[in-house]
Amino acid sequence: MNITKICCIGAGYVGGPTMAVIAKKNPNIKVTIVDINADRIAAWNDEDVSKLPIYEPGLAEIVQETRHKNLFFSTEIDKAIDESEMIFISVNTPTKTYGKGKGMAADLKYIELCARNIADVAKTDKIVVEKSTLPVRTAEAIKSILHHTGNKINFHILSNPEFLAEGTAVNDLLYPDRVLIGGESIDAIESLASVYGSWVPDDKILRTNLWSSELSKLTANAFLAQRVSSINSISELCEQTGADVNEVAKAIGLDSRIGPKFLKASVGFGGSCFQKDILNLVYIARSYDLNEVADYWEQVIIMNDHQKRRFADRLIKTLYNTVSGKKIAILGWAFKKDTNDTRESAAIYVADHLLSEQAQISIFDPKVPCEKVLIDLNYLNTRTEKENKSATECHQDPYEAVKDAHAVAVLTEWDEFKSYDWKAIYNKMKKPAFIFDGRNLLNKDEMNAIGFEYHAIGQ
Ligand code: UDX
Ligand code: UDX
Repeated sequence: MNITKICCIGAGYVGGPTMAVIAKKNPNIKVTIVDINADRIAAWNDEDVSKLPIYEPGLAEIVQETRHKNLFFSTEIDKAIDESEMIFISVNTPTKTYGKGKGMAADLKYIELCARNIADVAKTDKIVVEKSTLPVRTAEAIKSILHHTGNKINFHILSNPEFLAEGTAVNDLLYPDRVLIGGESIDAIESLASVYGSWVPDDKILRTNLWSSELSKLTANAFLAQRVSSINSISELCEQTGADVNEVAKAIGLDSRIGPKFLKASVGFGGSCFQKDILNLVYIARSYDLNEVADYWEQVIIMNDHQKRRFADRLIKTLYNTVSGKKIAILGWAFKKDTNDTRESAAIYVADHLLSEQAQISIFDPKVPCEKVLIDLNYLNTRTEKENKSATECHQDPYEAVKDAHAVAVLTEWDEFKSYDWKAIYNKMKKPAFIFDGRNLLNKDEMNAIGFEYHAIGQ
């Protein structure tokens, strides 16, 4: 099928950047991103591209270049579905918070709504592309809904999981390690391959069956998260034995069979994908009675929860076993640098634990707005909104955030933290002044020379 118009349902962290790059590289294809959230669409349409709802290096420039030419943001979902030959589903698939599979399985209600919407509106043949991360064999459900519409339209379902990481999304999209397309119809697969073929070499476009493609996405995220949990487990051992986890990571990473990436010990991984996808994998394995498989992967999450908790406990223990009434400054709220996304960020859990120990917390993040910090804390429901508000302050200026603090906790690896005037920060803090570096970002010798009592992960 010759593709001239593409629609993407879901203008989020995945749909937005992916479609912007597809539009940039395919000037002859009209790409329309639709979303039920009118505010989000309005933000994507803001004349001032610094106000886009998602911050990603390089994204604003691409949106500026393509918007109103062949890239459009709209709330007119039916119209966009109707006119397009290819429809991407890129809506969120959160972990279920109710019923069977609560806390484990992916909630597919938005996916189903999209499938029904497409079935209702379509008058011509469509290729439907799953972009959202889905449990294996979801395509079957989508297929069933689409094929039972009774309107004699041919629907071809493809799985095309996204491997971009936030903070580097544009670069990952422009230079992907691979593009994965799973499907049954060769024609449909080749139609999508030709869209990517505008900029991705053909040997990097992998064609598989539907189920392999769906499972590969969950497996890729599980393997990446497993590496982080593995090195974090070793970090605890390092703290007990005098080894340095950075040195261990470097030594093992030079083994070409292991490789250097995803071996950075941290306060714990966050983000919208790792935890959700592993929980999903565990749930699927259990549903087939594969309990050893499920237990194996569940351990990655257990280790990650332990790492977040352990970081907060170590801080409390070092501050003479109590943080009650003490001010703890948190630098970094996003789940990693170069994004304004805070989903599952370790900072939320560390802060929540410190608040339960009656600390006063003071937060600075270069990209996360203050309102978001309180929304994230309130979402946990650990205490009332009023209690969260009264124990939390949020600042636009890092030097204000650290004033009179007993300790600074570095929880996101923002580059700018390295170039701060740490001597000035030291002077503003209570003494002894502690730093708990959850990202092993700062220079230990420099911090000690200034006078800080510096604690890092795995050292
Ligand atoms: C994506 C993927 O789709 C998810 O499966 C993956 O695991 C993480 O990344 P993401 O783009 O990060 O999700 O989600 P989000 O930023 O929440 O965007 C989803 C958008 O879909 C939202 O803007 C939401 O309003 C929209 N949506 C949701 C619809 O337009 N229709 C719906 O029925 C549901
Ligand atoms: C991840 C996958 O990398 C990506 O392919 C997929 O499409 C979506 O999920 P993302 O969650 O955006 O991407 O970021 P990623 O760079 O993978 O980091 C995830 C978390 O792990 C972050 O909190 C990060 O700080 C942490 N991390 C990563 C570590 O703690 N140590 C590392 O060595 C690497």
